[in-house]
Order: sequence, then structure tokens, then C-alpha cells
Amino acid sequence: MTTNRTFTMIKPDAVANGHIGAILDQISKAGFKFVAFKYTALTPEKAGEFYAVHSERPFYKDLVSFMSSGPIVAAILEKDNAIEDFRKLIGATDPAKADAGTIRNLFAKSIDANAVHGSDSDENAQIEGNFFFSAFERF
Ligand code: PPS
Repeated sequence: MTTNRTFTMIKPDAVANGHIGAILDQISKAGFKFVAFKYTALTPEKAGEFYAVHSERPFYKDLVSFMSSGPIVAAILEKDNAIEDFRKLIGATDPAKADAGTIRNLFAKSIDANAVHGSDSDENAQIEGNFFFSAFERF
């Protein structure tokens, strides 16, 4: 089922570097509506759980450590074709390969600190949104 929703995080590097406002502005100008929104932080346990699907990958420990290193913004976004359009807006996982003008091209410095997360499927968008938000926190 297509939900027209995606889940995103503004990661600790982008928060620490003062990019929350600029990134939210880009998301908003690209036509995404905010369904749920929170300024929060992941513990190492929670980050490990969120990224459990990558637990066999060589960078898993570093990813968990980075994602629990400081505050993040978590949000559920809505727009037609949300998953694909949001992944286009943020650009490639490796900012060195991200198209000019994408969020990672503008705000990320490296593949391990790449400014934003975007869900890769409708199914994962639902799982990830449910990880952070209760039914009472989405509109
Ligand atoms: S993606 O976007 O899921 O298709 O990208 P993928 O390559 O599968 O990466 C999954 C998440 O792991 C992060 N990542 C890394 N972290 C640390 N070091 C290295 N080398 C690295 N490579 C990938 C990547 O940013 C993805 O995190 P999210 O939060 O899903 O963007």
C-alpha cells in the first residue's frame, strides 16, 4: 500500500552545525507537509534497534555511535510520491556523489555523517514513524 508518507531524521552532525532551520525550509519548499515532528535524541540502545537491519554491515557500530552522539529531529512527512521525491531531495547516501542543490550536497560532509535520513520504502516509513511517534503525536 502506498501511504504518501515518509520518515526523516535530521542527524546529529546537521543539528550540531546549526542546519535545522535551513533543512526544514528546503523540505517545506519542496512541498512536504509535516505530519509529526520532534526534537529528541537516540540512546545507543535505541539507535541500535532503529538500525538493526544493518547490524551485519561493517559500519554498524560507527553508525549507532554517531546516531546517538547528540540531538536529532525526527519527522513524518506527507506528499504525493513521498518516498521517491524525498530521496531525490536529500541526494545520494555519500554526499560526494549527491547532486548539486540536494540536502546532503549542501549540508553533509561525509558518508558517515550525512545530515539526513530518508525511508527507502512505504513499509519502512511506517515502521520508522511508529518507532518515534504514537498515534496521538501525528496529525
Ligand atoms: S540507504 O540510504 O539505506 O540505501 O544507504 P545504505 O548504503 O544502505 O546505508 C544504510 C545506512 O547506513 C549509513 N551508512 C554509513 N554509516 C557509516 N559509515 C558508512 N561507511 C556508511 N555507509 C552507509 C547510511 O547513511 C544509511 O543511514 P540512513 O540513516 O538510513 O541514511
